[in-house]
Amino acid sequence: MTELATLRYSGKNYELPVVVGTQNEAAVDISKLRSQSGLITLDNGYGNTGSCSSSITYVDGEKGVLKYRGYLIEVLATKSTFVETAYLLIFGDLPTTSQLAEFRKLLMQHEFIHEDMRHHFDGFPPNAPPMAILSAMMNAVGCFEPVFMQADDDEYFMEPAARLMSKIRTIAAASYRKSLGKPLIYPRSKLRYVENFLHMLFSKPYEPYEADEAVVQALDKLLILHADHEQNCSTSTVRMVASSQANLYASVAAGVCALWGPLHGGANVAVIDMLSELVESGQKLDKFVERVKNRDEGVRLMGFGHRVYKNFDPRAKIIKESCHRLLDKLGIEDPLLDIAMQLEEVALKDPYFIERKLYPNVDYYSGIIMRALGIPTDMFTVIFAIGRLPGWIAHWREVHTNDSGRIDRPRQIYVGHTAREYLPIEDRG
Ligand code: SDX
Repeated sequence: MTELATLRYSGKNYELPVVVGTQNEAAVDISKLRSQSGLITLDNGYGNTGSCSSSITYVDGEKGVLKYRGYLIEVLATKSTFVETAYLLIFGDLPTTSQLAEFRKLLMQHEFIHEDMRHHFDGFPPNAPPMAILSAMMNAVGCFEPVFMQADDDEYFMEPAARLMSKIRTIAAASYRKSLGKPLIYPRSKLRYVENFLHMLFSKPYEPYEADEAVVQALDKLLILHADHEQNCSTSTVRMVASSQANLYASVAAGVCALWGPLHGGANVAVIDMLSELVESGQKLDKFVERVKNRDEGVRLMGFGHRVYKNFDPRAKIIKESCHRLLDKLGIEDPLLDIAMQLEEVALKDPYFIERKLYPNVDYYSGIIMRALGIPTDMFTVIFAIGRLPGWIAHWREVHTNDSGRIDRPRQIYVGHTAREYLPIEDRG
């Protein structure tokens, strides 16, 4: 029996169905609101608006819970691998041995980019932002690879999904090498997903990079933690572009651009800049926190706060633990980690943060662990994109297989001029 919500407006009652999800989240279905009442809803930033129904990821912001296809992130982060988690997100179930072997084989087969694509890198200036290169090259993949639109056949979809997941590493590593004026390194098929990426980033033509197993495991876990997160800004962008029936490469390229922003995936770079500034300036932490609290200063505690989490971001906890383990294992003393923990302690005791339920999010410690892995700062958001790619692919597929096939087209409330007379230019004064 569907429960109804009643809206009373200018003397009339309108009954709207309430939709309840499998985790008991409830939503008023307003799809008939305008035709019944002439009203639309307004919700800047969509903080209260569900754009779709989805079965990929669930976040309980109040409890700090994150699940991919029903599996807790803490379980996947300790028991799974990034490739297996990517399969889970894209196809809905953990793979069998043969399915995982098939997926890995496809990742291996598609690790090269078309040789002509390599020349595209020559066209970028050395200081070109890696996220600009990544977005351009992800779109370019669609020029060299067969574009497909049949997303509803698992067997068939495995190849394009593997193709994109495999090539994003090669493109990311190539953009990094080009920025340093270093020769591009070809992938080595017998290496695991993350190992191969580190090899393409750091090997020399005559001396292959041998990744420390602790580094491989830490980066693999970091990618698992970034793999999906409901309708975040970049994933919603991918879904919006997918709704126009644009192909997977174009949709993902748009997602890369959305992720780039400092309020979203770019926050991990902003955190490192903030912590480095604090270490170099020796600024007292309580003084910095006072600046953050003073709106006129326009200073945010980067890596803190979240639209959905009003409790600890479970990913931040896992990354913080992983950070300590890796730095101990590698014998690294990073002053940024010390100051990050001190700053977290000061903030979590401060009423400003407590009242606004501002906690560390996924970006607060991720930059520190990437520094320990030897990843350069301007590649941090690229790593985030590599991690988020399976989530984008899964959502692109969900739009193409589950939704009504309708294009996303929000409405608005117009607040501009109503009627104006056209004046010839000589009379405009
Ligand atoms: C990601 O959506 C996702 O799932 C994203 C993500 C994913 O996996 O895809 O989780 C990844 O993007 C994590 C967020 C990374 N960004 C940052 O760390 C940047 C710093 N954080 C903030 O800019 C902010 O918290 C956001 C952007 C993350 C969320 O912004 P909201 O929900 O729009 O919150 P808001 O700006 O309305 O803030 C509410 C209040 C305001 O104060 P008042 O007006 O009530 O006085 O909290 C304050 C804000 O000023 N506030 C902060 C703050 N974040 C919010 N004050 C200081 N420092 C902060 N970081």
